[in-house]
Amino acid sequence: MKAAAKRSRRDTIRAQLADLKMPGALEALDEVLSGVDGGGLTPTEAIETLLGAQITLRNNRRLQAAMRSSRLPAVKTLADFDFSFQPSIKREQIDSLHELGFVERKENVIFLGPLGVGKTHLAISLAIASAESGRRVYYGTLADLITSLEEAQAAGTLKQRLKVLTHPSLLVVDEIGYLPVAPTGAMLFFQLMSRRYERASTVLTSNKPFEEWGDVFGDDVMAAALIDRLLHHCHIVNIRGNSYRMRQHSELWQALQTPDLEEAKTT
Ligand SMILES: Nc1ncnc2c1ncn2[C@@H]1O[C@H](COP(=O)(O)OP(=O)(O)OP(=O)(O)O)[C@@H](O)[C@H]1O
Ligand SMILES: [Mg+2]
Repeated sequence: MKAAAKRSRRDTIRAQLADLKMPGALEALDEVLSGVDGGGLTPTEAIETLLGAQITLRNNRRLQAAMRSSRLPAVKTLADFDFSFQPSIKREQIDSLHELGFVERKENVIFLGPLGVGKTHLAISLAIASAESGRRVYYGTLADLITSLEEAQAAGTLKQRLKVLTHPSLLVVDEIGYLPVAPTGAMLFFQLMSRRYERASTVLTSNKPFEEWGDVFGDDVMAAALIDRLLHHCHIVNIRGNSYRMRQHSELWQALQTPDLEEAKTT
């Protein structure tokens, strides 16, 4: 093909990509075409690379928008997770959850385990994968979510707040069990979970086994009804192991795990 004809083709493709609002592909175009001209890329690979560049840009933009609107506290991804540190976790189960079929089916996920084992990390990475797929996500600790519901109730806007929190395809409820919940807060949270039941997925984390949720929510009957709804369509990930935060301090970790720590300190 003559150089001038080649240039005009490129200009047409540039205009088409701009028209289609594909800046990622537009930016990659020259490099991809040089790859084809130099023989380094087959036409199929070139198309794949071009579309891949656009998808990467789109996913990054979705993630940035989600980070602004979802209140996710950090970026934690599956790629950053070291499975060798936590052998109790079945990698296939976590990989398969990241394919997001559970969000499609409006099922829940619960990460249970002691502190520092990666519950929040994996809950966030599921939220990020969902955000990248274009779904609306929202993050809150149980305490934050209850506070926001209580404030809405006091302001007479509870109905709207419940609607806002029912809307996301994936809601993360982090840190169930660290702070006790007052009875009114527990009822509000129960209302939220009842609304989301079979309508949208919730990913929850807790350091307490289900048997202790009655104490957390201050009401055994309400906790049982809540667990009944949550577990109806649910993937449970039970993590056992040491805190990743303490991995460089394994002796201190062992000491913290022993009940006679006070005694050990004074001797
Ligand atoms: N297996 C792992 N690979 C890489 N990073 C990890 C792993 N497990 C935990 N982390 C990191 O260690 C820190 C603590 O993990 P995380 O916050 O997920 O723990 P957690 O189970 O939610 O603990 P807590 O109950 O105290 O809230 C985070 O910075 C997280 O990214
Ligand atoms: Mg956590």
